[in-house]
Parts: sequence; structure tokens; C-alpha cells
Amino acid sequence: MPAHKPILATENLSIVFGGLRAVSDFSCELYRGELVGLIGPNGAGKTTVFNMLSGIYSPSGGSISYMDRNGKIRETGSLRPAVLNRMGISRTFQNIRLFGSLTVEDNVRVALHSGRAENPFDVLFRLPRFRMDEQRMRVKTAELLSLFKIEGKRDELARNLPYGEQRKLEIARALASDPCLLLLDEPAAGMNPQETEDLMKLISFIRKEFHLTILLIEHDMRLVMGICERIMVLDYGRTIAEGTPGDIRRNPAVIKAYLGDDAAGVSNG
Ligand SMILES: Nc1ncnc2c1ncn2[C@@H]1O[C@H](COP(=O)(O)OP(=O)(O)OP(=O)(O)O)[C@@H](O)[C@H]1O
Ligand SMILES: [Mg+2]
Repeated sequence: MPAHKPILATENLSIVFGGLRAVSDFSCELYRGELVGLIGPNGAGKTTVFNMLSGIYSPSGGSISYMDRNGKIRETGSLRPAVLNRMGISRTFQNIRLFGSLTVEDNVRVALHSGRAENPFDVLFRLPRFRMDEQRMRVKTAELLSLFKIEGKRDELARNLPYGEQRKLEIARALASDPCLLLLDEPAAGMNPQETEDLMKLISFIRKEFHLTILLIEHDMRLVMGICERIMVLDYGRTIAEGTPGDIRRNPAVIKAYLGDDAAGVSNG
């Protein structure tokens, strides 16, 4: 492990819905610049971990600490999504959340606004500082759309985009708030194999280009293993393995979780 402090650390993070412990004692450390995979069978608790990290659910137990933009470490378990977003935590959703009746461009612009700390007087009187911001926003929106190769669709309504492009637009929106930590929940779901491969390359590129730390939920093991340095595996809300792609590939508990007892037996034998 690197000697410096993690950008995100959770300790024994847990959440209970009714009687169900959806996540139990989830402890992890993410370091600046890492691309880490979070995998596990359906219902393992992956999205629930994201919902706690991004402030949608308050954990029933445990702690989350996050190093903000100024290097200050804060306990964030009880903070709301908008606050966490301003602090640099941004995410996408497994079920795409876009403003379907806004244009592609406006979807990104709305997200830019959410991260903007502007003075109401500048806006009201359209002072130079506000105009400069407007210009910066136009440029930034164009850059983000072009990064995802959807700049040609900027005037189309988001709901009219093909599924794969809606997913890309969602990531562009997540990047608009200048995150430090990006949580991607199955960003390639519904894409064809070529689109998926291209997207994974783009995610690697974005990580370097934007100096991001990325936590990625993705079902395609081959893809996760191809781009992540480290992988955590959940099953029934518990972490059953953590390590390099090589470690995970050979881990009997992981093989068992994905393929059942027979497969684990074969692999060990
Ligand atoms: N708001 C909720 N109320 C009750 N149960 C919930 C809620 N959210 C999640 N769960 C339950 O928690 C467990 C974990 O769900 P979660 O969506 O985190 O799994 P996942 O690993 O993301 O699965 P998938 O790969 O299918 O997306 C499931 O049993 C789910 O039904
Ligand atoms: Mg999920």
C-alpha cells in the first residue's frame, strides 16, 4: 500500500434494510489516481455501497472518511449527495438518470451549474465575471461532449440518444462537476462488445487526463481485470476477496461465488 493517505476510506460500513443486511462491514481504502473494480454477483451489495458513498443512503453502521479538495479529511457518512458532489464525489447510475427532455448540451450544462459557486450579483447584473463563466461553461461542455464523441448530437434531446450514448452522456455529466472521486455503476451495461471495449479504454484515459480516482462496478470480469489495478469482490454484502486481477482470478471464493461449488472444486483440483 502507498504511504500517503487514502482519498477515501471506509471502515466496517454496513446497512440494513428491514431485516436484510445488504452490506456488512465493508472496509476499503482508495488512493489518489487508482482505478479499482468492485465486482460481485447480482444483489451482492455493489450499488448499495455506491449509494452510501454518494450520500443517497445513510449507513446503519461504520464510517466513511473522504479527503476533500483541500486535503482535509472529513467524515462523510451523514452528508447529502449535493454536498458530497461539491466536495468532489461524482457518480453515474446503473439505471441511467438524465434529463430526457433537455438537450444533450443542456444536460451537461446543468451539471456544470451544480458545481459552480457563483455570486448572485454577478449573475443578476451579468457582470464580466459571470460572462466569463458562461464562456468557460460553453468551452467545457464542448470539450466533454467531444471527449465522448457525442458533440454532433448536442442539440438532440437526451431521450432520443441510443442507449450507449446515453451512458456516455451520463459520464460526461458526472465529470462536469470536476470530481476527484468518480463512481461508475455498470457504465457499459447495454452496450455491445465493441462499444464496451472502447468505453473501458476511455475510462482509463479519463482517469489519467482528469487525475481521477475511479471505483468501477462492472459485470464483465475480463474488462474489469483488463483495466483495474485492484479489485474488491462482494458476495451477500460481504467482501470475500480483494487483490490484483491475478489474485482475484485464482481466488477459490470468487470462483465459487460466480460459478458455484462445482467450479471452485474443479479450479482447486
Ligand atoms: N432501498 C432498498 N430497500 C430494500 N432492499 C434493498 C434496497 N436497496 C438494495 N436492496 C437490497 O440490497 C441487496 C443489494 O442490492 P444492490 O442493488 O446493492 O446489489 P448489486 O450488487 O448492485 O446487484 P446488481 O449486480 O444486480 O446491480 C439486494 O438484496 C437488494 O434487493
Ligand atoms: Mg447494482
